Amino acid sequence: MNVINNIRQLRSWGTINKGTRCAFVPTMGALHEGHAALIRAARETVGQSGNVVVSIFVNPLQFGPEEDFAKYPRSLIEDLGLCRDNGADMIFAPKADDLYPADRSIQLFETSLSKVLCGASRPGHFDGVCTIVAKLFNLIQPDDAFFGKKDYQQLAIIRRLVRDLDFNVVLHGIDTMREEDGLAMSSRNRYLSPEERAQAPALRKALVAARDAWKTGERDPAALQKLITTHLQQHAPLGRIDYVSAVDAATLQPVSATSELVVIALAVHFGAARLIDNIELK
Ligand code: PAF
Repeated sequence: MNVINNIRQLRSWGTINKGTRCAFVPTMGALHEGHAALIRAARETVGQSGNVVVSIFVNPLQFGPEEDFAKYPRSLIEDLGLCRDNGADMIFAPKADDLYPADRSIQLFETSLSKVLCGASRPGHFDGVCTIVAKLFNLIQPDDAFFGKKDYQQLAIIRRLVRDLDFNVVLHGIDTMREEDGLAMSSRNRYLSPEERAQAPALRKALVAARDAWKTGERDPAALQKLITTHLQQHAPLGRIDYVSAVDAATLQPVSATSELVVIALAVHFGAARLIDNIELK
C-alpha cells in the first residue's frame, strides 16, 4: 500500500497507474467499520486488477467557526492499518497548505440542496464539501467513488455536483453500518458520554417506528415527524433535536405527488456530539 502526502507524488502515481480502473473513498480519517465497508465495496467494484484509493484529509473548509475542526479526531496510524486490512492500494493524506494555497480565491457554492436539513444549521458546510470533493476528483480522476448513505444530504449534493460539473465518475451510495444496538457508526460517537451513548440508539428506533407507520399507510410527513420527535423526547431526553424532516430523497424538498422515494432525516445534539441518521421509506 502506497501512502502519498503531496500533489506532486500523486500526479506521478496517476501517470504510472493511467488506464487502471480506480475506485475512490474520500474520508476525513478517524476510520471505523463504516469506512471499512466503503473500502471493501470499492475493492469489490474494481476487482483485484483495479486500484482502491482512500483520501484522509480533515477539510477545514467544511467546518464552521464554532465547530470541532481543531478537536476532530485524528488517528493516521490506526487509519492506515484499517485501510491496509481492507485492501486499499493507495492512501492520499495531504497537508492543508498543499491543497489550499494561502491566497486561494476560488471555491464552489451549492445554492439549493444545501439550504435545508443539516445545511440550515451549518451554513457553508456543503460548499466546503463540494470544493474538496471536486478537487479530489480532479486530482485522483476516479472511475467510481463511494460515499456512505448516513450523510444522505451529502450524497444527494455530490450527485448534483457530478451532474452539474460533468465529472466522469460513477457514484455508489453504501448502506449505513450500525452498532449492534442500531446506532449509526460515526467518528463523532466517541464524543458521547456513557449516558448519552445509552440513549443514542433511540434515533434509529424512532426512524424504524416511522417506517413501520409508513408501511401501514401513514403518508402525512407531519405525522411521521411528530411520531419521531415524541419517541425521542421519551427515550432520549439528553438529546436536543436539531431537525426531523421527511423529504423527497432526490431533491430534499418537501414530499410531493411526484416523489419517487421519501427519506426521513434527522440530526440530534448530545452534548458535544451532533448525530445524524436517516431512513428511506419503501
Ligand atoms: O464525509 C466525509 O467524511 C467528508 O465530508 C468528505 C466527503 C470526505 C469530504 O471532506
